[in-house]
Amino acid sequence: MKKNIIFLGIETSCDETAAAVIQEKEDGSAEILSNIVSSQIKEHEKYGGVVPELAARAHVENIDFIINKALTDSKLTIKEIDGVAATAGPGLIVCLTVGLNIGKSIAAFADKPFVAVNHLEGHALSPGLENKLQFPYLLLLISGGHSQYLIVKDINNYEQLGTTIDDALGEAFDKTAKMLNLGYPGGPNIEKFSKLGDKKFFKLPEPIINRAGCNLSFAGLKTAVLRESKNINENLQLKYNLAASFQHTVNKILLKKTKEAMRQFRNKTFLKEKIPFIIAGGVAANQSIRENLIIVCKEMNFTPLFPNIKFCGDNAAMIAWAGIKRYKKKLIDNLDFAAKSRWPLDPSAKYLKGPGLKL
Ligand code: KG4
Ligand code: ZN
Repeated sequence: MKKNIIFLGIETSCDETAAAVIQEKEDGSAEILSNIVSSQIKEHEKYGGVVPELAARAHVENIDFIINKALTDSKLTIKEIDGVAATAGPGLIVCLTVGLNIGKSIAAFADKPFVAVNHLEGHALSPGLENKLQFPYLLLLISGGHSQYLIVKDINNYEQLGTTIDDALGEAFDKTAKMLNLGYPGGPNIEKFSKLGDKKFFKLPEPIINRAGCNLSFAGLKTAVLRESKNINENLQLKYNLAASFQHTVNKILLKKTKEAMRQFRNKTFLKEKIPFIIAGGVAANQSIRENLIIVCKEMNFTPLFPNIKFCGDNAAMIAWAGIKRYKKKLIDNLDFAAKSRWPLDPSAKYLKGPGLKL
């Protein structure tokens, strides 16, 4: 197989329109030839969340420009690229279809291999953009749509240790910010205003903290924030206290659950040496969560490896990188590959959402 493989990556699963050109160098490290992300924050701000139809329309309007810019910045033409990777799920079908269809069209037109990438695998492998990594490692993926602990065993080989049984963590951050009128997207604003508040002021629930292994739950916490928010009548200091108490509670939950995930990782892999612990996904940008998890790593003998903020949120560099890795394993897809709204990394993991759940 050719060395120095170069892929164009395309990402449109939610509210970021993104394209990137990535090269894998001979030593296995990544060279980022271009990485363009266009965020739709402005489009969704007034609704306090992503509106699928608006997101899809914005992708359609922007995608040509973003792909052209990624190619121009990389100083390469499509002929010089070895393959095309596009996110095919999980996510909003109307959004996914935009990037997936254009990715397939470019691959067909330029006669290049096409790789359909699982967005979660993009996040899971993203630390490889900056570090030389060996498998296995432990991953906490915390984004707007997902919250999972996974053993990353290899490309295309994941074991889920725990997941959220209701809301994703990013969703809880976004909804808390919405209830407190602190703007969209919620995560960065909650982090900012938490610095001005007393984190011990409100005692909030810590759902399933002492049971259900390293599965997570944030719905009860969100409901408690809603209840408290109704009593604070736009009092700014109380708002900041509530934001800080929410973030503090999240950190307490993550501390306990991460230790449990680390114990399970050791029991399952029998590995005693220092192992990388990685956080990925938009919420991984949160500084207080990073500091909290560094403490856990010290105690549990894991090496914290936290990606640069620009690779935490959605981007196409991680999609191109996952595309290269899959292509090298001959995991190439047909051009009739359809977008999937649900696409777990570990197909054997139990689906833990919905009524009647017993943990
Ligand atoms: O990975 P991502 O960009 O998109 C999805 O795949 O969902 O994650 C977006 C989520 C949003 O919920 C956003 O509020 C959250 O990541 N987020 C944060 C921070 N920055 C982004 N949450 C907490 N603290 C932050 N600093
Ligand atoms: Zn994501």
